[in-house]
Formats: sequence, C-alpha cells, structure tokens
Amino acid sequence: MSDSITSMLQENRLFEPSEHFRTHIGPIAVPDLKTYHEMYRKSIDDPGGFWGEIAKDFDWYQPWEKVVEWNLPDAKWFVGGTTNVCANCVDRQIKRGHGDELAILWEGEPCSPDPEIRRLTYLDLLREVSQTANALKSMGVKRGDVVTIYMGMVPELAIAMLACARIGAPHSVIFGGFASPAIVDRVQDAQSKIIITCDGSWRRGQIVALKKNVDDACEKLPEVKNVLVVRRTQSPITMHAGRDHWWHDLVPTQSPECPCEEMNSEDLLFLLYTSGSTGKPKGICHTTAGYMIYTAQTARVTFNLVPKHNHVFFCTADIGWITGHSYIVYGMLPNRVPTIMYEGAPNFPAEDRFWSMVARHKVTHFYTAPTAIRAFMKWGDEHPRKHDLSSLLLLGTVGEPINPEAWIWYHQNIGQSRCPIVDTMWQTETGGHIITPLPGCTPTVPGSCTLPAFGIDAAVVNEKGEELPANHGGLLVIRRPWPGMLRGIHGDRARFIETYWTKVPGMYIAGDGARRDERGYFWIMGRIDDVINVSGHRLGTMEVESALVSHPAVVEAAVVGIPHEIKGTGIAAFVTLSPHFKGATDDSLRKQLMEHVTKEIGPIARPDMIRFTMLLPKTRSGKIMRRLLRDIAVGKESTQDTTTLEDFNALAKLRESDE
Ligand code: WT7
Repeated sequence: MSDSITSMLQENRLFEPSEHFRTHIGPIAVPDLKTYHEMYRKSIDDPGGFWGEIAKDFDWYQPWEKVVEWNLPDAKWFVGGTTNVCANCVDRQIKRGHGDELAILWEGEPCSPDPEIRRLTYLDLLREVSQTANALKSMGVKRGDVVTIYMGMVPELAIAMLACARIGAPHSVIFGGFASPAIVDRVQDAQSKIIITCDGSWRRGQIVALKKNVDDACEKLPEVKNVLVVRRTQSPITMHAGRDHWWHDLVPTQSPECPCEEMNSEDLLFLLYTSGSTGKPKGICHTTAGYMIYTAQTARVTFNLVPKHNHVFFCTADIGWITGHSYIVYGMLPNRVPTIMYEGAPNFPAEDRFWSMVARHKVTHFYTAPTAIRAFMKWGDEHPRKHDLSSLLLLGTVGEPINPEAWIWYHQNIGQSRCPIVDTMWQTETGGHIITPLPGCTPTVPGSCTLPAFGIDAAVVNEKGEELPANHGGLLVIRRPWPGMLRGIHGDRARFIETYWTKVPGMYIAGDGARRDERGYFWIMGRIDDVINVSGHRLGTMEVESALVSHPAVVEAAVVGIPHEIKGTGIAAFVTLSPHFKGATDDSLRKQLMEHVTKEIGPIARPDMIRFTMLLPKTRSGKIMRRLLRDIAVGKESTQDTTTLEDFNALAKLRESDE
C-alpha cells in the first residue's frame, strides 16, 4: 500500500463549514446537512419530480413529455423536449437583459510586460458565435456532422464549441497537447470532415505547433476537406489552398445572425475521447438536455454560484478535457457567472502566475487539480504570499484523490484557512460531479470526496452488486441513471456494455476502487483497471505500450503506474529489445524511446522510467505480472538495471501465487 493511501486511511480531521464563506458567498444553495439529506432522498426517490423542477429554469422550444426513461443501460432524459445548449448559454442571458455582462474573461501568454486580456460579454459571444456558426455552414457543415477542434486555450475555442452547439453539429475537442497520431485516430473514429485549429499555441514562451500537427495528421486523413485556422502565434505555417481557411478571413465577414437549431433532448452534443483499458481511446457521447442541465445544476450547487454577487470563477483545466467542457464552458454560462480561460502554464513567466491572476481578476472560486497543488507546494509558500488572495471564497480540486498533506497546504496557503475545499469526484463519463461536499453545508475531511451529488445513487459493492459495510474496500458503482451520464461509446455498443455494465450486472461501474467510512463519506482508492492517472489525466497503459512497440527497437513492452511526487502516478515501462537492433547505448535508446512516445501520444505519456529486460515476467497463462513489475519499479525487489531471464524467473516463481 502506498504511503499516501496509508495516511488517508488514518485521516480523520474534520473541517466544519466555514463561517466566512457562509457570510460572504450570498444565499447558500444547500444550507445544512439535514436539507442535503432531504433533497438527496427526493432526488433518488423521485428523479422525475426533482429534475423536472430544475429543468423548468431553462429555455425550451417544446417541453418534455417524460423526465426519464430507463431501459438499462440506456437512459433518455427530458424525452420529447427540444432545446438548444448555445441558446441557454448565450441568448437567454441577453433576452433577460444581461447582454452587457461579462461572460468569458481570457488571459493569454506571453505575459510581459502585461498579460493580454480579452473580455467577452454575452452580446460579444452572440455575435462571434453566430458568425462562426455561419462560417461552419459555409464550409458545408450540417446538423449532425462532427466538427473536430484541436486548439490552444484561446477564446475562439469556446466560441467554436458554442457555434457547433448552435447549429447542432457535435464537436470533438482534442486536447492541444496530443500529438498528430492521436488526431488521426480520433478524426477517423468520429468520421469528421473538418478541423478547427490554431497556427500555434503559447506555452512557457514556446510555440506548440498545432497546425503542423494537423498537417501531418491530414496526410492520413483524405476525408478532411476543410481546416479553419485561428492566427495566434504568427508562426510560419503552410496554408493548403482549397482546404485551409484563416479564421480572420472567413469568420468576420459572415452575418451575425444565425438561428439556433431546435435540438431534441437526446441529440448528440459532443464526443470526447478518453482512455480505457485497451489501446484505442473511446469517444464518450454526451447529449443535449441532460448534460446541459446536469453540468449547470452541479456547478450551481457545488460552487454555490449566485449571479450578480461579483463571483469570478477560475478553473485551471484545459478545455481539451471534460473538466474544461463542463466547468469552464457549459456549466458556467447558464449560471451567469464570469468564467476565466487562461493560456500558458502555471509556472510561466513565474511560479506565481495563478496567484497574480487571482489578485488581478478578483477571483472568488478557484478550481484545480491535486497534481498542481503538489507543484505549488514544491515551488514554495512565498509565491501565493506575494499576492492579495482575499477575494477567494471557495476552492475546489478534481482529477485524482488528494493526499491530506496537499489538502492542508491548499487550505492554509491558498484558502487562508477560511475557504471551504470541495473535492469533486467525477469522470468524463459522468458529465459532472458525482460525489462532492457542498460548501457551507458538508463538513470535510482531507482526502475524502464526502457525499453523493443529487440524483447519484452511488455505492461501494462487491462483484455481485452487494453493498459492503463501512470501511470495506470495493467497487464504486452508480445504481440509477442521472441526467449527465454518458449515452454510449461512439460506434462501439459492445464496448459500452462491456466496460460499464457487465462487471456488476445492472449497475454503472466507474472503474475506481472505493470505501465508505462510518459517516457515509466516500474515499476513492484509485483505478482498478489498466488505466493510470498521470497528473489528473487518464492514460491507458496499453496506449503507451503500443506506442513503445511501434518503435523498431522494441519487441514487447509492459507499462505500469508508479507513485510520483508531483504527478500522483508516474509511468514505468519495461521493454524487451529486438536482438537485431544495434548501435545505441542504453541511455541514448532510453531517450529515443521517451521521445518516440511523446511523438506518438504527447508529452503527458512520456515514461518517467524505462527498464530494458530480456523477457517480461508472465504467469503460466501468459498474463504479464504487473504487480511484480510495479514492485520492481518502486525498488521493492532488488534487480540490476537490465534484468535477466533468470532473475525474473526466480521472482516470478516466488510471486506467481500473488497475482
Ligand atoms: C478518473 C476520471 C473528471 C475530471 C477529471 C478526470 C479520478 C477524478 C477525483 C477525485 C479521486 C478522482 C478517478 C476517475 N478522479 N476526480 N476528486 N478523487 N479520484 O476525468 O479523465 O475522466 O478521469 O479520475 O479515478 O475515475 P477523467
């Protein structure tokens, strides 16, 4: 058991709801635990009544006939209703007289002498989104066509997403840190014919060559007929006549009027690819009404958003991940609370980038990942201390279990011991938060994500689906549908059923191990499949293995997660080399392989450690003994750098019974 898990098991410091928060936030959405329990009961016993009431607050063309239809594993929400997500994010605020209010605040890199800032009101958004939507139409995009978006964190990214939603074209956003082979896979799987990108993107003073990656990908993608390019870095790029269009040529000349498509509740809103336990990423499907209502409602309750209370919400995620989709864009705009998008990195131009942003923009809500918090700790307390953080009311974390040391540091140094911390547990598949404290309401314990969100019938069970007693580790499941749940894996019904609905029949399985304590609080123990969580980003070990074996020197590879001080989990790779491969020393080959993985997947997949071995240890049935490899990687078994067949055989025999 890792040290951080051991320390979590012993953690029982309780933090009561903050008085400072309760007096400064505005009305409290859920004022006490008793109210929480009553509302939670209702949300489980009468989902139709509970969600129907919330849905009334949105703009519909046709009202729904039935709130939920559950035909395991298929759920339909707000059946028969028609709406448009962009209309609820943008037009609705204007109709109610808030057109001039700030919707999105963007801060770019480079930051010197001063950062570049853009402020978009709802009226600005309406104009730019409508023109972009018309530009998409001019390139032949129709309702139902998937639009691929591979961009840096510029305002045009959010604008492009909303433009897609406006005309009913599902988007598929690919994180700008992925390499070109990742674009090829995703574009092919989604059968997308258009890509929106940027010439490049700024990160730590360097340019990420987004357009070049798209060009490389397009060599294998004859189906891509149009590429729309935002100019950001002015870097020299090649524009392919007939295929490539500059955003600044095409978009501003379009009409600023574009009616919203009337979408059915269950029409696809977007695809977002995420890693699973096979080499091929899966396109998670989210649909219109359920996702919209679930993200907006969880954002409102978990972060206690109150329009017109001078709230400014800063989520540090990239929009290329679900966190950015849900809590920079779709969950925030319907709540009419300004949302910040930033370009760059937390330690450029200096390690105080976020704290200078908090002070500059009077941020009230700050939402980041444990891996970032551990980096802040390492960089030192002096960075936050340089800035006025008194505007902060609430802190959040997401992405992986937070170790209590990081929680306490965050609480004291950023929250100045007055801000509640919401440790929000959720997944790409869940659309929004599924287990989280409610600020001003739920007492918190460092390392626990506490209690289920409304409508989430979460439990810890064994493989038969039987609920386990307090403090017994088991599988995290959800036993009933919720509005934000995934509706499928794009083009792969069998994998959808196999991944989520088979291991414990009749229940959604999250893929995480968990336990509940005597208070009923949930503690997430980490993934139970071949997925590792590197810096809060999900990676399949098989994806990294296939990248490694695509190098000519490699015959076989096995990848395991190992504890890492900052990343939470680091990547260790065991590699057997081809006997025909000669001419590189171990060290230079190691570097080559690390580079190769970066080129195949992206920098997040770069192994932290590569070991060469003559053979991989396998059980008699041929399964790689991952636990043994993990022990070797963390140094629990003594082996030389190049492990020999005999060493492994001996170890494998010793350990085979454990696997
Ligand atoms: C996996 C989902 C949802 C946004 C970011 C990641 C882990 C996420 C927590 C948390 C413990 C967490 C789980 C989950 N995870 N949040 N608060 N406490 N674990 O999304 O890439 O879909 O990954 O991240 O293991 O299954 P994702």
